Amino acid sequence: MAIADKSATTDGKTPGPGLRPDFPILERRINDRRLVYLDNAASSQKPESVLQALDGFYRHHNANVHRGIHTLSQEATDLYEGARAKVAAFVGARQASQIIWTRGTTESINLVAHSWGRKFLQPGDEILTTELEHHSNIVPWQFLAKATGSVLKYVPVPEHDTLLGADDFARMFTPRTRLVALTQMSNVVGTVLPVKEIAEIAHQHGAVVLVDGAQSVPHMPVDVVDLDVDFMAFSAHKMLGPTGVGALYGRMELLRTMDPYQGGGDMIATVSMEKSTWNAVPHKFEAGTPYISGPIGLGSAVDYLAALGMENVQAHEREITEYALESLGKIPRLTLYGPRDPLSRGAVIAFNVEDVHPHDIGQVLDSQGVAVRAGHHCAQPLMRVLGVGSTVRASFYVYNSRDDVDALVDAIATAKGYFSD
Ligand code: ALA
Repeated sequence: MAIADKSATTDGKTPGPGLRPDFPILERRINDRRLVYLDNAASSQKPESVLQALDGFYRHHNANVHRGIHTLSQEATDLYEGARAKVAAFVGARQASQIIWTRGTTESINLVAHSWGRKFLQPGDEILTTELEHHSNIVPWQFLAKATGSVLKYVPVPEHDTLLGADDFARMFTPRTRLVALTQMSNVVGTVLPVKEIAEIAHQHGAVVLVDGAQSVPHMPVDVVDLDVDFMAFSAHKMLGPTGVGALYGRMELLRTMDPYQGGGDMIATVSMEKSTWNAVPHKFEAGTPYISGPIGLGSAVDYLAALGMENVQAHEREITEYALESLGKIPRLTLYGPRDPLSRGAVIAFNVEDVHPHDIGQVLDSQGVAVRAGHHCAQPLMRVLGVGSTVRASFYVYNSRDDVDALVDAIATAKGYFSD
């Protein structure tokens, strides 16, 4: 039987509402309304081709990988490793082995903190991050600082536009700066950071660069070689793939010097009663039977996005962002956060309505079929910079349209009607 490696079904399609039929869940009605899904920064929906890749694996090819000589195990291994090659190509990695499967961005960052940080950082060394980060790119470094005696520093973020340039980083470097850990796109205000310029400055200072690509890899062309970064972390579920899987890209020279993250099966070369030796990269970092169908689903998601073209995805989202900023900006007593220029940001828009709690707005929006996130967005330090406890957040993706923005604006008007005196 041919291996069920469904290729993308997007030939000739462009981002926009024409993609909605590819996403079965978007047919749902919520509270008797068309579902307007604007919570993509939290998790994206999945196209039929990804659902079929997941189902097809269990239906036709299920077996463990790297272990069996039988046909099913070989097919499973081919699909699993084939997905690694697809994802590597998607982010511009030179070799498939530079992609390590993890549970997602959070685990990818924890892996670097553990396997690189605990081995190479000394007391007094400095880790540089920013006030824009979500908790996954803060808490692992707090653990690491505590374990090694290193110091965690934050590049301050201006409250009015949340923009950071390379100069803002340049002035923070000291001879002890060993690591720069930064987001490429804020999950709250959408701010895009000039990662390539920052990486160049970091390397001039001898520092390693880790990029949190959770919000960038799904939404813009990303080339790790062109950016010249050392690590890039991202999650499948925010880019049309399944939950529970993601990847860490790493520079091979660094990956080779790092110790394993966890011990167990698959990550070893030899085991005796006294000691063990390690498998080659990437398997050294992948202990135990992996989530085999997860990477296969991500490979299918990457097929879908690559067929659309990431330049087209980015252009579509910029157009929606511009329209949304303009439309939301006309609503009285609504505060928008983050950059106003759609070229400096992604399609993630945080806002508040005066005197109405974000959770109340979110609830009324849901009653109108509009799904958004309300809260601190796992970025409490940034909330403090913005001077708020929480916000409403609308975030867009390939299947969204101007109609969805209009639905959001109408639903906000309804919410304001409920809560006005
Ligand atoms: N980082 C995810 C979000 O922004 C959880 O919603």
